[in-house]
Amino acid sequence: MARDVTIGELAAHVGDEVTIRGWLHNLRSSGKVAFLIVRDGMGQVQGVVSAGDVSAEVWAGLESLAYEASLKITGTVREDERAPGGYELSLSDVELLGPSAGDYPIQLKEHGVDFLLEHRHLWLRSPKQVAIMRVRDEVVKAIRDFLYERGFVNVDTPILTGAIGESAGTLFETEYFDLGSAYLAQTGQLYNEATAAALGRVYCFGPTFRAEKSKTRRHLTEFWMLEPEVAWCDSECNMRLQEDLVCYIVGMVVERCRNLLEDALERDISKLEAVQSPFPRLSYSESIERLQSLGSSIQWGEDLGAEDETLVAQDYDRPVFVYNYPKTAKAFYMKENPEDPRTVLCDDLIAPEGYGEIIGGSQREDDYDRLLARIREEGLPEESYGWYLDLRRYGTYTHSGFGLGLERTVAWICGVPHIRECIAFPRTLNRLYP
Ligand code: 4AD
Ligand code: MG
Repeated sequence: MARDVTIGELAAHVGDEVTIRGWLHNLRSSGKVAFLIVRDGMGQVQGVVSAGDVSAEVWAGLESLAYEASLKITGTVREDERAPGGYELSLSDVELLGPSAGDYPIQLKEHGVDFLLEHRHLWLRSPKQVAIMRVRDEVVKAIRDFLYERGFVNVDTPILTGAIGESAGTLFETEYFDLGSAYLAQTGQLYNEATAAALGRVYCFGPTFRAEKSKTRRHLTEFWMLEPEVAWCDSECNMRLQEDLVCYIVGMVVERCRNLLEDALERDISKLEAVQSPFPRLSYSESIERLQSLGSSIQWGEDLGAEDETLVAQDYDRPVFVYNYPKTAKAFYMKENPEDPRTVLCDDLIAPEGYGEIIGGSQREDDYDRLLARIREEGLPEESYGWYLDLRRYGTYTHSGFGLGLERTVAWICGVPHIRECIAFPRTLNRLYP
């Protein structure tokens, strides 16, 4: 009896007769011999079948097999250096499990991106998309391993929130019974400022929502964000943690996904190998001088736009920190810089090659009066922040944290221009389907 195996397990079955279930990726026939490429999600294998090796019925059935039909193939495993994956099957049976309509929409030819997004549920089967999903999974695993090793506790924060986390401009609002409005979380940070006082080092990692009206290659309305929060950590300590984390993630992905990066994604790995600490650092003021010298019209006080980020990063082969932005350009919770109160103790980490900001972080305002003043200045509803202000009344503490955008990080590592390919089902301004 042939054994059921996956394509990833073929190495252990050379010479054996095995059965594989998967989908037809390609079929060529010379009239006497047919070559089937089958993928099962874990790999691809070529099966070879001669007219005489199978029943007349099976041989005739091959002719009507359509791209992406699901199949059960049985055959003997042979080692073959030339075959993709290194193995080939000499087939003795091909059974059709689920026929595929002859009009499979995604062909080898180039499709427009709207068409592909409309068929995202099928587009995901193609090798490049499979590679991106695998790299994303490795990034997530690397993040969790890194934080676990350093004593961080994962605390999941609510998605339905009563207080505005970042800014009023990009809120998804929904009615919440008799309690008025709830907002989909823009961040879990504020909640983990509470749990960091309970556990010391914490993080949340989950979906985050922003009603971004911009159609850029860096914005989704639903994206995943990793947010560590660390007690007794100042802005300097925060930047070191970010640098260590990013080096760890990139190192792990290069080690574990080298083939995917090189083959399916055609990524220049030397660019990723250059990502070593220390990362260069520019104060916000230095970055403005540099940008102006490069011809940008940016003025002191403004946030860096996407083009400015690309310009600032072009001098470096690894991510660059821009730190201590003006208060007016950043969120209310960031700690005032004692050396220049026009600015706050924060940083953005900007990826090379035009990928822009992948992390935003800061030391948090731990002074009750200053925080309250900032909440008022921003016109935020004070009553929603009572609990948050309490953290400054009962044993306030130096603490910092940051948010790493998962899709932007994956896009940079994979060398994919648009972050919509870095999440299985992207949500954007004009897309809620599939
Ligand atoms: O800089 P942001 O807005 O920071 C925060 O939300 C803080 N509460 C984080 C913290 O300190 N705990 O967002 C952090 C990161 C950005 O650097 C970016 O990578 C990503 O989240 N991001 C987005 N990614 C995709 N689509 C969007 N619309 C994004 N907005 C932010
Ligand atoms: Mg930011």
